[in-house]
Amino acid sequence: MRMTVIGTGYLGATHAACMAQLGHEVLGVDVDQSKIDLLKSGEVPFYEPGLPEVLSRNLESGRLNFTTDYAAVAEFANVHFLGVGTPQKRGSYAADVTYVRAVIESLVPLLEGDHLILGKSTVPVGTAAELQELADELAGDKANVEIAWNPEFLREGYAVKDTLTPDRIVLGIRKGESSAEEIAREVYATAIEAETPFLVMDLATSELVKVSANAFLATKISFINAVSEICEIAGADVTQLADAIGLDERIGRKFLGAGLGFGGGCLPKDIRAFMARAGELGADQALTFLREVDAINMRRRDHMVQLAKHACGGSALGKNITVLGASFKPNSDDVRDSPALSVAGSLSLAGGEVTVYDPQGMDNARKVFPTLTYAESTDDALKGADIVILATEWQEFREIDPVRAAELVADKVIIDGRNVLPVQAWQDAGWNLTALGRSL
Ligand code: UGA
Repeated sequence: MRMTVIGTGYLGATHAACMAQLGHEVLGVDVDQSKIDLLKSGEVPFYEPGLPEVLSRNLESGRLNFTTDYAAVAEFANVHFLGVGTPQKRGSYAADVTYVRAVIESLVPLLEGDHLILGKSTVPVGTAAELQELADELAGDKANVEIAWNPEFLREGYAVKDTLTPDRIVLGIRKGESSAEEIAREVYATAIEAETPFLVMDLATSELVKVSANAFLATKISFINAVSEICEIAGADVTQLADAIGLDERIGRKFLGAGLGFGGGCLPKDIRAFMARAGELGADQALTFLREVDAINMRRRDHMVQLAKHACGGSALGKNITVLGASFKPNSDDVRDSPALSVAGSLSLAGGEVTVYDPQGMDNARKVFPTLTYAESTDDALKGADIVILATEWQEFREIDPVRAAELVADKVIIDGRNVLPVQAWQDAGWNLTALGRSL
């Protein structure tokens, strides 16, 4: 099939490359010329394992191309995926759908014949119906444009796998006449043949599926982090507790990783936008618990800063503090709302000499926090540290040899913000190890 993908950020670039990998002919479009130039030359503008290979392979095969020209998009295909960002609005919790609307405003007047626009962006419920109205106004006599919604559930770090072999495909379609299901079945034929559940529903439900999924994941993380606060006071161990409750199939162990909490471009923004939308709909009470989910999550960062100051003897002033990790999670260079950087920044503002190292997130971190010191390697970061904080659980950090690390630091004090270090080995090497939610 021929299709276009509008917006070549995280979601769009991955979707475009993976659709080509499935055998489709794909044209990706973005207003950012520098991004398009990079993609055309086979370079992914962010870190995502496996994506550079899929991109290059499909550029070479000729099935994948990129442009900044909307007229080319209108010409190229009758199926268009919309994957532009919906960031948090300045001064508000709501999601900003300006970019999504701008795509419809730019594209629809150029269309002729029958076209389907499949939205993938995470949007407030009701957006797709509004976009359909907008498209109907803008479409000339020559075009018939349908808007459907096809939310995306990919995780950073696993984006290629999640796109090629999703665990479900959700499609929201309008009432009345619609060609979306038939077309989507063809687009996703490979996954559907492999018996991936394909769920067709109304537009509003499909929009809500996406934000509800992220709100549930955020709630699960904050639940265990709230329990972890109690564990710390009561002298219990949150990791053993999570293992034990996670064995109940109804609960499950995934997303019960207690620690510094969630960050990134999706979970924090999506729970806030969900609350804001509930308020607009006159149902703010329904989601007030998400405020607590957010607050528990933010408390994790403050708690880590307090623990670090305590470990420094009461004040961070003049102490050499090493923060391992800058990205919001491992296998990503994304530092948006990163708990690691938040902690590093706070300790720096409190007078600490903070050194940060991350295997992939350094360039992005430097842009956000230029005043921190950035080390060349883990070893380099550990040199002379009075205290070490593990803030993002990269494999490289999990595998640090505590005996060797002990030779590099000034003081053998470490706080495990992700509960991933082998406690016994670190203690045997003489380290004073503290971990969130455990009394060690
Ligand atoms: C999240 C969802 O998991 C995806 O399904 C969704 O498609 C995506 O948002 C999106 O809306 O685009 P992602 O932001 O890549 O994906 O990150 P997650 O893997 O969900 O992790 C989010 C944060 O939670 C990270 O900071 C991670 O460290 C933290 N986390 C995760 C925990 O603190 N504990 C856990 O047990 C799991």
